[in-house]
Amino acid sequence: MYNTRIAGVGKFVPEKVVTNHDLEKMMDTSDEWIRERTGIEERHWLRRGEETSSTMGAKAAKIAIEKAGITPEDIDFIIFATLSPDYFFPGNGVLLQRHLGITNKEVGALDIRNQCSGFIYGLEVADQFIKTGKYKNILLVGAEFHSGGLDISTRGRGLSVLFGDGAGAVVLQPVEDNNKGVLTTHIHSDGTNAEILSATIPGMHGGYYAEDDSIFGFDDSTEHPFVLLTQKMMDDNMIFPYMDGQAVFKTAVRKFPEVIIEGLKTAGLTTKDVKLVIPHQANLRISQFVQKILRLTDDQMFNNIQKYGNTTAASIPIALSEVLEQGLLEDGDVLVLAAFGSGFTWGSAVIRW
Ligand code: UT7
Repeated sequence: MYNTRIAGVGKFVPEKVVTNHDLEKMMDTSDEWIRERTGIEERHWLRRGEETSSTMGAKAAKIAIEKAGITPEDIDFIIFATLSPDYFFPGNGVLLQRHLGITNKEVGALDIRNQCSGFIYGLEVADQFIKTGKYKNILLVGAEFHSGGLDISTRGRGLSVLFGDGAGAVVLQPVEDNNKGVLTTHIHSDGTNAEILSATIPGMHGGYYAEDDSIFGFDDSTEHPFVLLTQKMMDDNMIFPYMDGQAVFKTAVRKFPEVIIEGLKTAGLTTKDVKLVIPHQANLRISQFVQKILRLTDDQMFNNIQKYGNTTAASIPIALSEVLEQGLLEDGDVLVLAAFGSGFTWGSAVIRW
């Protein structure tokens, strides 16, 4: 059995920076509120028609591939994590393959829809394929085009100030040393309150979850109503994501430490052995709570949400890319990745660099 090592990392963020002061001009919010509650100072948002999550993913992937010292032709499996894919279907995995010009390879392309924990889910899946020797170069990408789907009026301010666009990618390869690379991964889910953080419209639920489906404006005159998106959904602005922020926050500060400790225990390590934790960048206050609960030092906790906001599936690989740029990891260091988000889904990975 092999272990999985991260052989190359890349990131891409759009050029346009949107500061909290820029948001003040779009909605009733303030730089002070956003900084105090979230730690975010600015985020990157795409200009119209500039990129998509798949094209940003391809740009990050090309860097990761180069850093790994391979070519796109060497990739033998693609995993793409996003909640903001280009199309309802097909998935971003095949689009990424096309952008990389490797359609002749006929490699598998898998899409992961686990939102904030998509990257960890992807890593666990990739790890199984690498361990068994099935694949030698897996490309794992997390990318999000959030800004195109946010309500940037005052009505949507509780959510729209949090999210940024961007992409991160890693190339995963086998390593024979079983004390190197990914030591453990753990992934979990609990769908009890799946809609607490969700974008349910457009969708094929057809009113199934609603006591009164007339709120969606379905056409009752036919036995085959058009369920994906009705005019009423559009008129009532139901197409934007929904979040019960406090409920998410309360669960996140419990689940992050739990799943980090679970990973460390399995690996036979403690928080003292950890060089760096890269938490999914959801909210600086969540990261600070987690740091406090786990009694980690400032040096052990990496945060860059200040510059990027929450980039969901992209946040961990973007952060990892910056960690490497800043030279914060050395051979043999223990790195912990952890995420929590919509679903709820959550997970962790313990890695020896
Ligand atoms: O990636 C994982 C997914 N997401 C998360 O992890 C997010 C978890 N939750 C959070 O980060 C926080 O709950 C938020 C940052 C979203 C909100 O912070 P909060 O301290 O929970 O604020 P709140 O939602 O309780 O709102 C407090 C007040 C409300 O006004 P009233 O009712 O007290 O008058 C909101 O209307 O703040 C108001 N508010 C805003 N004010 C200015 C909400 N959004 C804004 C805003 N600017 N952008």
